[in-house]
Amino acid sequence: MRSNPIIKTMMKRKSIRKYTDEMPSQEIIEAVVRAGQQAPFASQLYSVLLSRKKGVPFGAPLLFTICVDIHRMELIMARRGWKLVTNDLSMLFFGIQDASLMAENMVIAAESFGMGSCFLGAAPYIADKIARKYKLPPRVFPLVQLVMGYPAEDPPTRPRYQSGFTLFEDLYPELSDAEVELAMKRMDEGYLAQNYYSKGKFKIPLESGQEETFTYDNYSWTEHISRKWGQWYESPDELLTQLSKRGFKIEIPEGEQSK
Ligand SMILES: Cc1cc2nc3c(=O)[nH]c(=O)nc-3n(C[C@H](O)[C@H](O)[C@H](O)COP(=O)(O)O)c2cc1C
Repeated sequence: MRSNPIIKTMMKRKSIRKYTDEMPSQEIIEAVVRAGQQAPFASQLYSVLLSRKKGVPFGAPLLFTICVDIHRMELIMARRGWKLVTNDLSMLFFGIQDASLMAENMVIAAESFGMGSCFLGAAPYIADKIARKYKLPPRVFPLVQLVMGYPAEDPPTRPRYQSGFTLFEDLYPELSDAEVELAMKRMDEGYLAQNYYSKGKFKIPLESGQEETFTYDNYSWTEHISRKWGQWYESPDELLTQLSKRGFKIEIPEGEQSK
């Protein structure tokens, strides 16, 4: 694979879940956020909340909460004499695109300063709690959190699918059993070799009372991820409620539900 200093930085990145006490300087924090902002945007439909050092997960000194922010757009439009009429699902999609690109730019910027980071995905499900803490106005929705600081651990980089299972030129292929099995083998053997799940002792429990048949010798990424998406969040109601509390209306038109 061709490389250069930026690719090297990106290829050695991994999520960091243990941090030193060192507080990054204001200059570094500002550079990380500014580099984040330089990501491409549809409409800069995000804002970033920062907390330093108060009960941040993994002992990280910085906690960023990246929000989809429609509120600011509406403030600007009002001053131009416009009212936002685009439906909230579209605004949410554009906002998620903008905010995600911004967040990942921050991750790479942090990496370039010798810092580490780790996303926390629960924010949308605790949006009401986050909104109270930061006094968020309506139409600001916490999308994802990002802890950041100087690493106090150096885990290996985690495996990824083979690129042929990800990059499809011109046509989406019919994936063969062999290709699917190769992808699973790469992921599972990669994580097992790193003792990823056995070190952390985190198996997702089987919720239906089925007997556990996996040990830490064979419990790996594809089983873990299958247990997540095979058991969790079956109903969209929790998320729709959080969105509605934050002033977003996502509705399926009458009569379209069963189509
Ligand atoms: C949207 C998102 C949410 C995540 N949420 C969590 C989380 O709640 N807790 C955690 O420890 N890691 C979380 N992660 C980190 C992933 O577990 C990690 O990126 C993945 O296992 C790949 O490992 P790597 O980042 O070291 O390459 C999240 C990552 C993303 C992109």
